Amino acid sequence: MSKLYIIGIGPGSKEYITLKAQKIADSSEVLVGSKRALDLFPENEGEKLELDAQNMEKILKLSISYVSSGKSVALLSTGDPGFSGVLRPISKLKDDIELEVIPGISSIQLCAAKLQIPWDYADLVTLHGKGITTDIMGLLENGKPTIILPNFKVNEIARFLMDKGVDSGREVAICEKLSYPDERIVKIALEDVLKEEFSYMCVMVIF
Ligand SMILES: C[S@@+](CC[C@H](N)C(=O)[O-])C[C@H]1O[C@@H](n2cnc3c(N)ncnc32)[C@H](O)[C@@H]1O
Repeated sequence: MSKLYIIGIGPGSKEYITLKAQKIADSSEVLVGSKRALDLFPENEGEKLELDAQNMEKILKLSISYVSSGKSVALLSTGDPGFSGVLRPISKLKDDIELEVIPGISSIQLCAAKLQIPWDYADLVTLHGKGITTDIMGLLENGKPTIILPNFKVNEIARFLMDKGVDSGREVAICEKLSYPDERIVKIALEDVLKEEFSYMCVMVIF
């Protein structure tokens, strides 16, 4: 049976790509992924299919059809494919092809490492594709750090939490563009998140 490789490529810097991920990507005839994922493999001269939020289903179906026709295809997922990555959408579409998942270092893991948080003692939450709801409130008083993959902007989360009565002086950390040259990690009060501009590429921790 034909196989599609789902490869976690880490948070963004080449240094965090595993040898296994590199090896499979190098030997694939077709690479599929976001622009920032594809840019990590310039030496692969095969076909590249760029994935974005708008063309996701179309490109995933095309990737599956390539696998069915015998091509070797690697689907690149930033971070780890199993945490707000492509594993969920591709599992729904995969039809009769086999999948093999190669794990990668998630932005959540790198965030925990940078802040020296043992993440077996943290709550991991993704708001990606869901938006923020009051579900998160129940976690904030259990004494553990809450590590959040935001839906879009961390400013919106800070505003939401303060509107729901969370102390504006509560300590949070924002880990932005992890592993890139312009990585920024700040520990600030919740209210100060509103005073700064952060990109969409952030992990937020509420202590
Ligand atoms: C579609 S999710 C993919 C998460 C990915 N599967 C993972 O395990 O890191 C994309 C979100 O992950 C976070 N993210 C991914 N890479 C990041 C990085 N290098 N630094 C900070 N946040 C990152 C951002 O919140 C971004 O909006």
